[in-house]
Amino acid sequence: MKKSKEVLVSAVVVAAGKGTRMHMDKNKQYIEIGEVPVLARTLLTLQKCGRVSEIIVVVNSQDIVYCKQEIIDGYGLYKVKKIVAGGETRQNSVYNGLLDVSQDCEIVLIHDGARPFVREESIEESITAALEHGASCVAVPSKDTIKSADENGFVSGTLDRKALWMTQTPQTFRYQLIMDAHKKAIDDGFDGTDDAVLVERLGFPIKLVMGSYDNIKITTQEDLILGEAIADSREYYG
Ligand code: CTP
Ligand code: MG
Repeated sequence: MKKSKEVLVSAVVVAAGKGTRMHMDKNKQYIEIGEVPVLARTLLTLQKCGRVSEIIVVVNSQDIVYCKQEIIDGYGLYKVKKIVAGGETRQNSVYNGLLDVSQDCEIVLIHDGARPFVREESIEESITAALEHGASCVAVPSKDTIKSADENGFVSGTLDRKALWMTQTPQTFRYQLIMDAHKKAIDDGFDGTDDAVLVERLGFPIKLVMGSYDNIKITTQEDLILGEAIADSREYYG
């Protein structure tokens, strides 16, 4: 038996979206925040984590050369083992990445390229929880009261805030479990907005790991303003 610290952990970072909600000419992954491109920030933090052995980066096929030169080589990201082309949906992109992890990968950590402020502790805790429980998902308790609405824009219900968590990434799984979950989703024609939902469909329990509210996903223009503030605060307070 291998000791837990020798378990091979691969990270799959998905950065193959179009960034349509950002409304910019440049793909949001390559926008600089605090003078460092979003995707480089994300990968630098993952690389710092000793338990992550290798990183597979998934990008748009037309960005592979740019990403290799400007981000991977440009920022000395030696843990990046492969840059692969993404698919039509996030789920397709994750699957493409999963197919390319090293053969002895036991745990796979899936993370959005667009979450550059992920904390090393969250990465560590999500790996620990996946080793223990098989599946983990970083999330934060909802601060707002969440309501459901009908098709006419009227409130149809109020959900119990105490039970609501806003999910982020990383989401981390035993490799075989997440592969089975993706294959079943493909067979069923199911497209999910995160990976945990695919594992939920198998009826497998997923351990929630407390994340941080500043692990934002860079999605719209105002996230760039927030992002600059977070980058500044990290310089002062860590
Ligand atoms: N992603 C991906 N492949 C896709 C779609 C999304 O790899 N076909 C990645 C994005 O690059 C991002 C993460 O999944 O890092 C979360 O997706 P999202 O924030 O929705 O990014 P985009 O799809 O790029 O943005 P938008 O939905 O505004 O077009
Ligand atoms: Mg999207």
